[in-house]
Amino acid sequence: MKTPVILCIDDEAILLDALKCQLKDYFAGKYRIETVESAEEALEVIEELEEDKIELPVVICDQIMPGMKGDELLVKIHAMLPATLKILLTGQADVDVIGNAVNNANLYHYIAKPWEPTNFNLTIKGAVEHYFQEQKLAQFYADLEIKVAERTRDLRKKNEFLNMAVHDLKNPITAIQGFSEIIQYDCKDIDNEEVVEIAGKIFTSSQQMFNLVKNILEVNAIELGKMELSFSKQNILPIVQGLFKHYTKVVESKNIQLQLNNTDEKYCVKVDTNSIYRILDNLISNAIKYSFPNKSILISIFNNSDNVRLKIKDNGPGLSDIDQEKLFGQFTRLTPQPTGGEHSTGLGLFIVKQLTETMHGKVWCESMLGHGATFIVEFPRVE
Ligand SMILES: Nc1ncnc2c1ncn2[C@@H]1O[C@H](COP(=O)(O)OP(=O)(O)OP(=O)(O)O)[C@@H](O)[C@H]1O
Ligand SMILES: [Mg+2]
Repeated sequence: MKTPVILCIDDEAILLDALKCQLKDYFAGKYRIETVESAEEALEVIEELEEDKIELPVVICDQIMPGMKGDELLVKIHAMLPATLKILLTGQADVDVIGNAVNNANLYHYIAKPWEPTNFNLTIKGAVEHYFQEQKLAQFYADLEIKVAERTRDLRKKNEFLNMAVHDLKNPITAIQGFSEIIQYDCKDIDNEEVVEIAGKIFTSSQQMFNLVKNILEVNAIELGKMELSFSKQNILPIVQGLFKHYTKVVESKNIQLQLNNTDEKYCVKVDTNSIYRILDNLISNAIKYSFPNKSILISIFNNSDNVRLKIKDNGPGLSDIDQEKLFGQFTRLTPQPTGGEHSTGLGLFIVKQLTETMHGKVWCESMLGHGATFIVEFPRVE
């Protein structure tokens, strides 16, 4: 912190010197004592101090000066620096002058000339302490306000999250209720085949609820910092190959061609197995979910000098710049919609980003609307 300044203003040079010596002795280098002989000079010095971001806890100003008088100057200084404490030196007790300074410059004290040095020093000391206490208090309130604003924002976000979650749970619950009512009340009118069909719908709805609850719990664990990850060095190729095998069957219904490139090396990273599985599962399932039938999806894996990188490139609808900005948020359902009736909780990419970053990785999307999307995820490589 730059040394704060105490500014003394008096047109009598001798008095000013005496003041400087007295305060210098008393404060012993804790504050710089600046002296000026006129109001104009004082305003210039204050501007310079402001530019240099130097604090001015106290201004001591004589009342009787040629040109601008002390009380008028203090009113001006008060408009510029309301926190600075102002002290007026008066030769004669002029009530009007002091009244003006008290009312319009928030005068801290007036001292009658000639002053008694001990009392004078104590008054200035009190003023400086008062100033710094007020500054501390102001800082404390400013920090508190920031914290309250942050907490309010977090609570509002939590509330929105809860509203969305409840809203998303309502649909499958309503469906389950409706289907079970059919079985309960109309069982005589429906045959076995229909019962099986209804049971299938109940299963799908409960699966949706299960996925949503699972994702909500995962988001909650992430936000509370309660994710239990166990890092181990591993070649992630078998995980990619396992997912590739699984999704090769899934894409048949959409006639999508799934390809996997570069599988002749080891791709070693230090990650949590379940989390890497969740990340890749979401990215690959998204590519399939948002692609139109008869397109292709390419999964590539590379060893770079310091990281292992995976690319999942689809030929789906792609994402606009506006959609891309929201992509990794919570409950984000953007313009692209599932093309095969798949379910969507809008939490997948949020979880992907959080898990990736917890494992010291990076994930991002490169896309142009109408030209497909490529999701890239990378992790530090280990030998
Ligand atoms: N490959 C993609 N191509 C186009 N849009 C995509 C792609 N991946 C994600 N999106 C868009 O981003 C949104 C958020 O994706 P995210 O994975 O977070 O949620 P989701 O797939 O809707 O649900 P889930 O939680 O089940 O994963 C999607 O709703 C979709 O609009
Ligand atoms: Mg998803």
